Amino acid sequence: MTHSPRSSRAGGTLGQACAVAHPNIALVKYWGKKDGGGNRPAVGSISMTLNGMATQTCVRFTGSGGDDRIRLGGAEADANTHRRVRALLDRLRRYVPDAGAAEVESVNDFPTGAGLASSASGFAALLVAAEAALGLRLSEDERSCLAREASGSAPRSLYGGFVEMSTGQSPDGSDAVARPLLPPADWPLHVVVAVIREEEKEIGSGEGMRRSFATSPYAAAWVSSHPADLVEAREAIRHHDFSRLAAVSEASCLKMHALAMSARPGLLYWRGATVEALHEIVALRRGGHEVFFTVDAGPQVKAVCTSEALAAVRERLLSIAGVRRLIVCRLGEGARLLAPEEPCAGGRDVRRKVNQ
Ligand code: PMV
Repeated sequence: MTHSPRSSRAGGTLGQACAVAHPNIALVKYWGKKDGGGNRPAVGSISMTLNGMATQTCVRFTGSGGDDRIRLGGAEADANTHRRVRALLDRLRRYVPDAGAAEVESVNDFPTGAGLASSASGFAALLVAAEAALGLRLSEDERSCLAREASGSAPRSLYGGFVEMSTGQSPDGSDAVARPLLPPADWPLHVVVAVIREEEKEIGSGEGMRRSFATSPYAAAWVSSHPADLVEAREAIRHHDFSRLAAVSEASCLKMHALAMSARPGLLYWRGATVEALHEIVALRRGGHEVFFTVDAGPQVKAVCTSEALAAVRERLLSIAGVRRLIVCRLGEGARLLAPEEPCAGGRDVRRKVNQ
């Protein structure tokens, strides 16, 4: 994409900044990319940003040459993460050619790469921190586009509450951006994440999408049936209609996994406990509790529920053999800078480490 003259240097000196971002879960799923680069999604998506998990990232530009130093959870980032982080930093460095190498320290307080949207919160936090460290002031759409080029679901973590990511029409991807739909306080739902395996998944979502679109006979039907799901979810959110949102979200989730499973070779992100949890959630709903499920590219199950249903949902999910623990979330805020006096959480003082 072309970055417009709207983006400007805020006048600050090169420095360091820390940001926090939360993962998001899609209710109407994104799966598949458009041809032609730019990481443009083949379909739009609607998500909820969660508050119970967070990525904290500090970035410092050194002003001198050399390689970027990128640490994730206290260890050197692997080659693939390093490449993706450097690509985003390089795009930002185009505005500030003398920025030099960066030092990046990032910590998640939840399992990384296990279908809990760590790439969404990770790249949203990285973008917000690096933008500030470079003294840049990007427009909202530029921020969305840069986040999207790094990870298709990351633009949604720039905003809080319910968020829609558009597939866009423009060949340069400039309108494939996220927009907030409803702030967190307007519909105070809960999300209970049943953690089933903490290990990183074997097939990442990028490869999963590529394989699904290259080999599944269902890819065209996924794309053509998607706009109706988006309309339905948008309406359900606008009217706070829980059962309507439940129906379209579960349908979109199962459709995405059907597409992934029908790839060659098939992609099966679920474990036994995943299926058990889905059955329990459906049984709870039949019993009158307002709850529905969604599952991303991993085995964890996310149960979206009202305050009234929360206790029953927790109890039932914890009773499933194979559910290791629960992470209970509400809707969270969008990515933001941490003020210099704010503590860096996540069990580690990331800010101090970047300063060393
Ligand atoms: O942004 P990625 O490349 O991690 O892909 C996200 C894909 C899903 O989580 C499975 C669905 C979604 O919309 O978040």
